[in-house]
Amino acid sequence: MQAWSDACSQARESIAFVPTMGNLHQGHISLVEQAILIADKVVVSIFVNPTQFAANEDLDLYPRTEDDDLKKLQNLQVDAVFMPSAAEIYPPNESIDYLDVPAMATKFEGAARPEHFRGVVTVVKKLFDCVMPQHAVFGEKDFQQLLLIQQMVEQQSLNIKIHPGAIVRDTDGLAKSSRNQYLSEEDRQIAPILYQSLLQANDWLMNSRLESQQVEQQSIDFLKKNGFKVDYFSICNETDLSRPTSSQQVILVAAQLGSTRLLDNLRVE
Ligand code: PAJ
Repeated sequence: MQAWSDACSQARESIAFVPTMGNLHQGHISLVEQAILIADKVVVSIFVNPTQFAANEDLDLYPRTEDDDLKKLQNLQVDAVFMPSAAEIYPPNESIDYLDVPAMATKFEGAARPEHFRGVVTVVKKLFDCVMPQHAVFGEKDFQQLLLIQQMVEQQSLNIKIHPGAIVRDTDGLAKSSRNQYLSEEDRQIAPILYQSLLQANDWLMNSRLESQQVEQQSIDFLKKNGFKVDYFSICNETDLSRPTSSQQVILVAAQLGSTRLLDNLRVE
């Protein structure tokens, strides 16, 4: 991978990079299409990163669909697909040199999954070291992840521009996710209510006198009534996910339907 990237650099060709864990859907594809517009060459990685899964999580169950993924990427004329083995990224017998994560990494997804973001930023730094891109594209679907990657790039003084990619949704509003395939038929009908709860909260913030906290509580009640188990529904400042005080805010939600945990978010407008 590094030799390939070196050759690009010598030919003065820029590289845009899209890291993924495979099982590609339209959300991933949109990031690749964005990357194609940004740089001369596009690299996609497929690596199911063990360090971002806790012992009790679905690492072994994570869907692996490499043949299909490669066909999709070939149709898009991606220049290279990087599929390292776990042993290449984490040499056995060597300890893992984890990057530190800021306090923000312990909130929301980090509260539910304590070591998750440490694993994410560590693997993304390693993938950056292999691919050596000038640009990288990350989806806003994982809003907290995107912020933590941006912070890591600053902290490590990397010369890589991070490009956010808009959330791709099904026509009924449900954000595309590898996890949607695990929803029962009945739950799949209910799932778009998650996005509706975000739109409704945005509307309350704009057009009612409700305080943020009241909007959060009413939204949680609304989701519960519709059969969701709500992990968090939180209105935050967009830059650091602190309590909402600034004019740029985002609403983050995580909720479970059956055994499937769904994530979504919306910028307050
Ligand atoms: P993965 O879940 O495969 O997601 C890869 C990229 O696709 C992420 O940047 C994610 O935000 C984006 N994405 C997923 N669903 C999307 C949607 N509906 N619309 C737009 N973008 C979407 O995120 C990871 O992998 C890993 O944590 C990784 C960054 C690769 C590190 O292991």
